[in-house]
Amino acid sequence: MSSQSGKQIVKQPAGKFQLYGIFGHPLGHTLSPRMQEAGFKALGLKAFYVPLDLARFRFVRLMRRLPKLVLDGFNVTVPYKEDAARMLKKILEPEAAAVGAVNTVFKKNGRWRAANTDVFGFGLALKKKGRFNVRGAKAVVLGAGGAARAAVYALAGGGAREIVVCNRHKPRAILLVRNFRRLFPKVCLTAEALEREAVARHLASAGLIVNTTSVGLKPGEAPVIPRAWMPRASSGRKKLFYDLVYRPVQTVFLQNAKSLGHRTLGGAEMLLYQGVRAFELWTGRRAPESAMRRALWEGLKEAPKR
Ligand code: ATR
Repeated sequence: MSSQSGKQIVKQPAGKFQLYGIFGHPLGHTLSPRMQEAGFKALGLKAFYVPLDLARFRFVRLMRRLPKLVLDGFNVTVPYKEDAARMLKKILEPEAAAVGAVNTVFKKNGRWRAANTDVFGFGLALKKKGRFNVRGAKAVVLGAGGAARAAVYALAGGGAREIVVCNRHKPRAILLVRNFRRLFPKVCLTAEALEREAVARHLASAGLIVNTTSVGLKPGEAPVIPRAWMPRASSGRKKLFYDLVYRPVQTVFLQNAKSLGHRTLGGAEMLLYQGVRAFELWTGRRAPESAMRRALWEGLKEAPKR
């Protein structure tokens, strides 16, 4: 990598190809290889992206030997994002340190860095596809795991006025809120249990409601909150319901919100933009967004591998 007018440029030696990959387990569901390879192809880059389905002890062993890894960059997905943050704590980018999860590892001036592009993906999808302005907004975040931390970081960093974290196990929400209050003292952060009274009360005054739990992924599963807890949209006051689940594309959570007159956003665009950001960190090139989106949506239309 070399630096030119402050911008990272990655030069590919003639005849060589680049190798990227994704670590996780299981990986049957991952759409990242086709999305990233579509991006490489669109730019004429000689690069491959392979799924690396490893047991935890093998993943941990590889992370310990990171300097010797032959990959040019990689993604980390479920269930290793938190493990990666712990193991790579000396090379964390600020957002990865705050969220406590790593999903993208790349080289900057020849040195490995560990980032969290879910934060970027969450925020850009919200802005571009959700057409939602976070600044000054009130948001309700359902869930308090790793995905919720990425969402809260993006929302607080984007200037949200108030964020309410509702979780089935309230102590986990309290812990999350306590950590982020230190980082974002100006944002009003509160924790609630995932119970009707509290959720319905906050939903009434929020502009954005985000499902960060994996509830809705399994066919026939009840949504994270029942339809009866959701308010009906009043004229000109539609809320945005954002589900980070991307398969199915339209979850029951989103169907319910839509039937009550609200706007909805599924998780596919966040998946796209976290990949776009990773692509740019690896290659130093502007990602071919439409080619990557096309590949992703083709994959989404196919039946999931289980
Ligand atoms: P991720 O990194 O994808 O966020 P996680 O850290 O395991 O995954 O967090 C999962 C989140 O989904 C948690 O907030 C979890 O709630 P608890 O902390 O109370 O367990 C939430 N979750 C999972 N299954 C749920 C369900 N059936 N109903 C409500 N929340 C659920």
